[in-house]
Amino acid sequence: MCRMLIRLKIKKAVIPAAGLGTRLLPVTKVLPKEMLPIVDKPTIQFVVEEVVNSGIKDIIIITGRNKRAIEDHFDKSYELEAELERKNNINLLESVKKISNLAKLHYVRQKESLGLGHAVYCAKSFIGNEPFAILSGDDIIKSGVPCIKQLIDVFEEYNSCILGVQKVLDEEIHKYGCVECDLVSEKIYKVKNLFEKPKSNDALSDIAILGRYVVTSEIFSYLEITKPDSNGEIQLTDALKKMLEKHDVYAYNFVGKRYDIGDKMGYLSAIVEHALSREDLKDDFKKYLNSLTYGAHALH
Ligand code: UTP
Repeated sequence: MCRMLIRLKIKKAVIPAAGLGTRLLPVTKVLPKEMLPIVDKPTIQFVVEEVVNSGIKDIIIITGRNKRAIEDHFDKSYELEAELERKNNINLLESVKKISNLAKLHYVRQKESLGLGHAVYCAKSFIGNEPFAILSGDDIIKSGVPCIKQLIDVFEEYNSCILGVQKVLDEEIHKYGCVECDLVSEKIYKVKNLFEKPKSNDALSDIAILGRYVVTSEIFSYLEITKPDSNGEIQLTDALKKMLEKHDVYAYNFVGKRYDIGDKMGYLSAIVEHALSREDLKDDFKKYLNSLTYGAHALH
């Protein structure tokens, strides 16, 4: 009998952006951390561009109270566009117009910050029965091929959930979902077990989930039965761990550098490295950094 392989396409992405951002208080009291600028572009625009550059147009952003700036940023700005047109500032006008035409954006509110898993569950009726991508709204990943596209390519081969992972320092694993797994192919692991934020001593590996996932819609039935953790949050890692009992889950060691904007050092390194990579800024910025180090560690 001929067995037909049905290739499921990833057409939708969920960007959870409703977290409280407590690590960056007080700025996150009114400003969403996802709107923090990396020089002159808000963090979440990098994430939306990663999705669009991966061929996905339909995006749902999970927002919450004090997150309205996200919707405003991607909306059309009539007054600003008219003013830029009047001043004949064509380059800026084009860049502003481009933002509101990037993708088909949808929004849903997570009324309370009950965890990443709960935020993803808020997208259930938008997603329906299709596989979909998940990208943390506060993680920027710099790479040649967009990170989520790398995961989508692996999903198309395996038709199972794919977690975006990289090795982290042993003393850092307690910040992440930790993956116990076996290597099955170049950069691809079969997941055996998952642990959300293990204590460094208890961690069974140094492989961490870094804010990118492609999952099948079965995840919603596992999120429904996932109990809140000791902080009252429903964790996506815990739902995936349950899913492992009946489904295959894979992890992909993606190529790229990840910046956690929700963490002070992550935010600082993203700004510095981005500025150093920009043609319009790098020379002056290097000179400035050199002046700070009094020439002792000159950058070239
Ligand atoms: P984080 O754990 O980094 O966000 O979640 P947080 O809870 O805001 O962090 P701190 O510890 O308080 O600083 C990763 C992504 O998931 C979203 C966040 O906005 C972030 O983009 N998230 C997290 C939600 O949408 N809802 C939640 O309940 C929690």
